[in-house]
Amino acid sequence: MTTLVEMLHEDHVGMAALVDMLEEQVTTLKRGDDADYHLMLEIAQYFTSFSDAQHHPCEDRLYDELRERRHDLDGALDTLAHEHEELGMLGVHMRDLLKAATAGEMTPRDKILSACETYVVRQREHMNVEETLLMPAAADNLDAGVQERVARLCGRDPTQADAGVPDERFKRIREALGITV
Ligand SMILES: [Fe+2]
Ligand SMILES: [Fe+2]
Repeated sequence: MTTLVEMLHEDHVGMAALVDMLEEQVTTLKRGDDADYHLMLEIAQYFTSFSDAQHHPCEDRLYDELRERRHDLDGALDTLAHEHEELGMLGVHMRDLLKAATAGEMTPRDKILSACETYVVRQREHMNVEETLLMPAAADNLDAGVQERVARLCGRDPTQADAGVPDERFKRIREALGITV
């Protein structure tokens, strides 16, 4: 049976692939070549619709449970909670710039580059701390019953570990990742 921690790890695997894809576009922009703004917009929309709306709220509840049991992690948990808010704002900022650019509005290239580069760095750092510190601690300290309760409260079903796979709305991402299911 898949636990909530395992499901959140699967989310991270998918999110990391998208961060890598976004980074490739940032590198293209830095070279002075044309980046694929439509693909970048889909990636930004994925992060603002799935990660901010479904992944982070679930982690917040999981971390609340961890906080009750591991006071030594208070500092790290405070930082991560703050980063969820920060990533939400950075994601919306990046998405809005890309939305304007793809709608043909004048959007300075260096603004897009800076917003996307910041997002890549911050999201990657955030997930690294979760994968190396918080998720192992959650797996060790929160039993199956607690994880099941948290999953129910945040509306996620660990038996559907692939729920984070970009759906039909994200055609360019699915194409780029070769997703056919
Ligand atoms: Fe997180
Ligand atoms: Fe996460």
